[in-house]
Amino acid sequence: MNSNATPLPPVIAIDGPSASGKGTVAALVARELGFHYLDSGAIYRVTAHAAQQAGVALDDEPELARLAHRIEPRFDGVEIYLDGAAVGDVVRTEEAGRAASRIAALPALRAALLERQRALRQPPGLVTDGRDMGSVVFPDATLKIFLTATAEERAQRRYKQLIEKGFDASLAALLQDLRERDARDAARSAAPLRQTADAALLDTTNLTIQQAVAQVLRWYRETTATL
Ligand code: CDP
Repeated sequence: MNSNATPLPPVIAIDGPSASGKGTVAALVARELGFHYLDSGAIYRVTAHAAQQAGVALDDEPELARLAHRIEPRFDGVEIYLDGAAVGDVVRTEEAGRAASRIAALPALRAALLERQRALRQPPGLVTDGRDMGSVVFPDATLKIFLTATAEERAQRRYKQLIEKGFDASLAALLQDLRERDARDAARSAAPLRQTADAALLDTTNLTIQQAVAQVLRWYRETTATL
């Protein structure tokens, strides 16, 4: 090891299934620490959206990988811009989530998005959420967390979120969709969703967002105190 090398900025990697609340928790932890925040799911979503706009089939792996290198999405707070157009709302629909989950199973597409994600590791630090943040993108993360909740609780949360935004939603359909997405994310061979041995489990079924955020901050302080 080169002891003169500048240490890389710290990373808190939060992985977990759909609608577990990891995005909300990650964004609040980032705000609390003054760190950057990377919503890696949004990168998959915006790439799927760009593919649909360009007429690229969601199973055309080489063309999707080329498209992923080519596009320049810009993330500004909760808004996402693609070629100057605000696409935050359209990429956060359930349909866009399904399209993202389909292209996310393709190894060449994932490889094409790797550097884009790693480039966001900037001082003073990064909090990121996704499926493979701790296992593939930032294997040397300072703290790795697997954040989950029961499928029923996650469906309830997603339902509430959609209704609050004024969208139509069916709890039964959401639960079925979540189960299908979990199965696809966990069964794929490229970067499957799984808890790595070095990740702390945070089950938020009975926790408020504030309690989950406080737990992540406690773990982070404990980890950095012993470094
Ligand atoms: O919160 P939700 O799971 O609905 O969506 P998301 O986190 O925005 O991710 C959308 C899809 O992208 C997921 O279903 C995953 O299949 C995929 N994804 C991934 O494969 N790897 C990541 N690091 C993030 C998302």
